[in-house]
Amino acid sequence: MAEVQIFEGALDKGLEGIVACSTAVSSIQDNTLSYRGFTIEDLAQNSTFEEVVFLLWNDRLPKASELAEITATLSKEAALEPEFIKVLKTLPTKGVHPMAWLRTAVSLMSHWDADAGSNEVAANSRKAIRLTAKMGTIVCAFDAIRNGKEPVQPKVGKSLAWNFMSMLKGGQEPDAELVKVFDTCLILHADHELNCSAFATRVTASSLSDLHSAVVSALGALKGPLHGGANEQVMLMLKKIGTIESAKKFVQDALDAKEKVMGIGHRVYKNGDPRAAILRKISETLTKKIGKPELYQMSIMIDDTMQAQKGLMPNVDFYSATVYFSMGIPIDIFTPIFAVSRIAGWIAHSQEQYANNRIYRPRGKWTGKLGQKWSAVGSRG
Ligand code: COA
Repeated sequence: MAEVQIFEGALDKGLEGIVACSTAVSSIQDNTLSYRGFTIEDLAQNSTFEEVVFLLWNDRLPKASELAEITATLSKEAALEPEFIKVLKTLPTKGVHPMAWLRTAVSLMSHWDADAGSNEVAANSRKAIRLTAKMGTIVCAFDAIRNGKEPVQPKVGKSLAWNFMSMLKGGQEPDAELVKVFDTCLILHADHELNCSAFATRVTASSLSDLHSAVVSALGALKGPLHGGANEQVMLMLKKIGTIESAKKFVQDALDAKEKVMGIGHRVYKNGDPRAAILRKISETLTKKIGKPELYQMSIMIDDTMQAQKGLMPNVDFYSATVYFSMGIPIDIFTPIFAVSRIAGWIAHSQEQYANNRIYRPRGKWTGKLGQKWSAVGSRG
């Protein structure tokens, strides 16, 4: 028998040491996160989410007229078609995680999109707007439908942050300060170099599949607790810990049991996630404002203990949990909010992939059997 050739490439589990594409969307250099060369601190302080969307998609900040146009277009496109809402209402919600529902809803959304099957640049630009505009409306529709309420449609002329905060509360006028905080959160989550869901987006786009499919792949990747699902897990962990006094022991027990402490650690940042530093300050202010400073103090205790014991620091999901909780957002909506923002980055990555494409097709290191011979079912031992 001819000798079997086994592919002998180097294995890099989790692709830690692999550069898988060239990209100019966002970068992590010397612990600094930048979108298109602008630091996240600068953008969080001075920008709006709509401006960041334009920046990520166009590689430059918009002029005043362009900012007005993208803000107005996103606001106009945020409404859901009545037929689409009718179908959404038929989806089960009981025992269904909002991320699973969102993944289904985005896939369904393509059936109402006249450009769904086209990968032309202009068609993708139109879909990019619709996907980004409607993501928040869909998440709020889920919360309404599961509570037996009618989904609220967004108000034209308002920002995505304003509309999200309003729709989630049944169409009430939202608190202006909280809208500003929420907008900052959207900015902080909008992109993050070649993270797991951005990579999933690019892998799907690389087969020249359509934009909705690429976004659905990304939603599936984001849902997991090692990626976007961590923010929800952080809040559940804090609730389980209950008191500041129990926090240290909880962490020690988790480490002894070799369990992960959610919201801590990062593949790339070894000296702290710059987004966590911004969110930490917001968390301190908001937890105090709602009369629950112990949530922040518990977080600090976990943060300090993890740094002392393992040299690991919080990531974006750690302090965003208490920020969202303080804003009165249901815990299982935390990860969908990540998607409401990250859609901007997924789209920028898809655009980049389509423009300079080669299908992703790595190899697996074979560890199974070879040369087996088929035998008839009756003669198998
Ligand atoms: N809690 C406890 N230990 C952790 C940890 C955490 N959150 N994160 C990493 N570690 C430890 C691992 O146990 C491992 O220790 P060891 O070398 O003694 O075995 C070491 O640090 C390396 O961890 P590893 O899981 O290989 O790192 P990674 O780069 O593959 O994973 C994360 C990065 C973010 C997935 C990981 O830190 C994690 O699971 N964090 C918790 C989930 C989370 O917050 N995800 C959101 C990311 S933005």
